[in-house]
Amino acid sequence: MSVTVDLHTHILPAVDDGAEDVSEAIQMLQIAAANGTTDIVLTPHYLARGMRSTQMSKADLERMFGLFKEVAAQNFPKLNLYMGAEVFGVNNIEEVIADGQLITLNNTEYCLVEFGFRDHLQRALGVLDALARDGYKPIVAHPERYEFIQDQPRDVFRMLDKGALLQVNHTSLEGLSGIEAQDVAMLLIENNLAICISSDAHSTFQRTPDLSEAYEFISSTFSPEYAEDLFFNNPKAILKGKKV
Ligand SMILES: [Fe+2]
Repeated sequence: MSVTVDLHTHILPAVDDGAEDVSEAIQMLQIAAANGTTDIVLTPHYLARGMRSTQMSKADLERMFGLFKEVAAQNFPKLNLYMGAEVFGVNNIEEVIADGQLITLNNTEYCLVEFGFRDHLQRALGVLDALARDGYKPIVAHPERYEFIQDQPRDVFRMLDKGALLQVNHTSLEGLSGIEAQDVAMLLIENNLAICISSDAHSTFQRTPDLSEAYEFISSTFSPEYAEDLFFNNPKAILKGKKV
């Protein structure tokens, strides 16, 4: 069975458009654990507009994480949970950093960052630049879902040139985010440009934390070693703050 580490989930309950309550969050953990996931980072949307977390500080989210981690440990003592966030790439990211408000993956230098689906390449590059200048290692969440990348997939090289890493969603590979996202996701995987595949799970249906099918797909289409790197070795190293 596949053993996986999931760097991108919306399981922390009642903070964004992911798990609505503790019960749904626990069910999501159940799905992940039953399908071989051993380590999960909780990455609520952060600094994004229109979410409950919009008004929350880093300390607020850390407090909620601490509370949920205790509940989760009672149900799944073997499952490792880590604090993180999907940080919206705001223009004033340098101020966020200066204020000590940036949330990274398990307190490492790795920061999962997202952009608007109809954002602009230059703005995204500016944010990646700012993060890199301050010593962070940005991981771009689901580049295959952005229209500006779908229109010009080669622009991922501009992101990579800034020192960014790329995280692909398993649902994109499966076609759940449209044919364009699926095509770009395959292009990234075929060309060894993504560092990991994560779930970006939002619920117990459709966008779930079950990575097992995608793992089998990569393993049989490319190689078992490539699947192990994308779903386990690379995300595990990132969580430990190691170079990947
Ligand atoms: Fe997400």
